[in-house]
Amino acid sequence: MSSLDFSTKIGSKRFSNPIFTASGCASSGQELAQFFDLSEIGAVVTKSIMSKPRLGRPTPRMAETPSGMLNSIGLQGPGIDVFLEKDIPWLVANNAKVIVSIAGETVDEYGVLARRLRAVSGISAVEVNISCPNVENRGQVFSCHPDTATAVIETVRRNIGGELPIIAKLSPDVTDIVHIAESVIKAGVDGLALINTLLGMVIDINTMKPKLGGKTGGLSGPAIRPVAVRAIYQVHQAFPNTPIVGMGGVANGRDAFELILAGASAVSVGTATFGNPTALIKIRAELEQLLLERDFRDFRDAIGFAHRGAK
Ligand code: FUM
Repeated sequence: MSSLDFSTKIGSKRFSNPIFTASGCASSGQELAQFFDLSEIGAVVTKSIMSKPRLGRPTPRMAETPSGMLNSIGLQGPGIDVFLEKDIPWLVANNAKVIVSIAGETVDEYGVLARRLRAVSGISAVEVNISCPNVENRGQVFSCHPDTATAVIETVRRNIGGELPIIAKLSPDVTDIVHIAESVIKAGVDGLALINTLLGMVIDINTMKPKLGGKTGGLSGPAIRPVAVRAIYQVHQAFPNTPIVGMGGVANGRDAFELILAGASAVSVGTATFGNPTALIKIRAELEQLLLERDFRDFRDAIGFAHRGAK
């Protein structure tokens, strides 16, 4: 039996362990539930949901890259009505801890989504995705500017009411991510999700055209892990009391541990699940082993350990 307290907290909510799905890589968890019990992971972070059903971007929507992949999904989804009717009850019935990710084309759309979620039971937190790179208009990447990031978070905070923690998902495609983090913390978030994918492009040298139907896409996978570690480290250094859900190229327990040492209170796993649907379970076990080998008895003592004694 493990003698490790593996639990973690985001705002007022406690999670049994720090390994979460990454939004967008497992829809609302149904695919992964074929392989393991969803209560074995800390939380399911759902695909970002919008107010209306959405078809997403033209195909092809995925392209391989060295140590990573590009996606150009374009926030495809069933819309909030179907999501609330089908996905949330299914997740609750399957004993999953649920973090609902929301995305909007306008500040008002985020407000509408927050209002729809405020009375829904079975939700542990809301991830406010203000950093999807696959939108027609870069002006909709709200986290690229502190004013637009603030406007979205203030609107969600006002409309969500109650105690539901809000987590802002930020883009690494900015000059100073600490500045953006500061603006959303001031606007009322309880946590941050770092990092969303980086905007990238692949050109097929046979067709001599961009490979993706949407031309650009979000880069994920091991190639971006050092960017995630850097962003988490910088933000944790500036705001050590704000929990961070870290993500970006985590494929094993060692990678998860690296993000935790940088300052993550939880780690989301995305791209790795495409190759191995049980990756989350493997990563959880490997991380637990690494912590015990280093004499940690409380997971939370490892959060931000790389900063200890740092000037
Ligand atoms: O295209 C997408 O649906 C991706 C969303 C995201 O990276 O936030």
